[in-house]
Amino acid sequence: MKKTVLVPGGAGYIGSHVTVELIESGYDVVIADNMSNCDETNYRGVCQIVGREVPFVKMDFCDAEAVKALFKKYHFDAVIHFAAFKAVGESMTEPLKYYSNNILSFTNMLQAALDAGGCNILFSSSATVYGEPEKFPVTEASPRQDATSPYGNTKKMCEDILFDSVRAYPTLKGIALRYFNPIGAHPSALIGELPRGVPNNLVPFITQTAIGKRESLSVFGNDYPTSDGTCLRDFIDIVDLAKAHVCAVRRMIEGKMEQDYEIYNIGTGRPLSVMELLNSFIRVSGVKLNWHFAPRRAGDITAIWADPTLAQQKLGWKAERKLDDTLASAWAWEKHLAGK
Ligand code: WQD
Repeated sequence: MKKTVLVPGGAGYIGSHVTVELIESGYDVVIADNMSNCDETNYRGVCQIVGREVPFVKMDFCDAEAVKALFKKYHFDAVIHFAAFKAVGESMTEPLKYYSNNILSFTNMLQAALDAGGCNILFSSSATVYGEPEKFPVTEASPRQDATSPYGNTKKMCEDILFDSVRAYPTLKGIALRYFNPIGAHPSALIGELPRGVPNNLVPFITQTAIGKRESLSVFGNDYPTSDGTCLRDFIDIVDLAKAHVCAVRRMIEGKMEQDYEIYNIGTGRPLSVMELLNSFIRVSGVKLNWHFAPRRAGDITAIWADPTLAQQKLGWKAERKLDDTLASAWAWEKHLAGK
């Protein structure tokens, strides 16, 4: 009997890539999304890649009645919760929008899962919970620090809500995956990152500059205490990241968990500077990219990268895709969007 996974926010960048990997690993998937932060592009791409219509429910997880109805209509063996707003900058100017949406959608889902008899819950968390780390690489035991944004705070709060819920309710199990910096697109170039308006993140800004949608890339800061003066990040390929979700869901559904709540860093373990990534993109794409140094961006941390050992040991997962292939996939996706 096939297992069914609910993917709230599954029409988005990470959710769509996870849906493809789940289906290709033999799971059934139901996508639920209010489409507030994306259009149908990625959903249509998912259906094309897997060769069938994936069940899709347009709904808002802030609507408790709609969530309850969903759990009455289907039996879910696991939930992978992506339904949240994720723009760091926007969360600074609209904190209430972020707290009400990100927390309520998560607690509505948990309550419905509990009322349905329990479920395996996989939460989409973020390395942002580590703040500005003092020691590297970052392990799951590294201290969480005060979030640098309301967005980051909602990630910490949802981790705590999940921890308290699995401790209080034996029918709930939970895993939090702390992503580092997701980049790239599916090799088919049919799904990828679709930022609304001006991209906040580095790679979509690079590819939009390369395709001519943006005038020039600003490299925020070249006076950091790093080898080339630019920030260090752990850029994790989106397909590698998606596969980590399949490994985590499998661990939960097959009853392999050793605690009721587990946390895993999902990164490559390899720090890369902004300039190193930029130069790799220029080499891989062959595009003469317009870029310039700009002042540091408020809220940016100097460096962060993962120790991914625990995910390898317990999930049997590690990043495999080469950076050049990841950047080539991001560029192919941008050209696909431009109809090239
Ligand atoms: C990376 C580096 C910038 C844009 C955030 C969130 C994290 C996750 C990923 C949601 C930084 C530099 C960027 C640009 C640049 N969010 N940069 N020019 O800030 O590390 O992480 O996004 O899932 O939770 O915190 O990612 O891609 O914005 O920046 O120089 O136009 O690239 O200064 O050093 P970040 P990012």
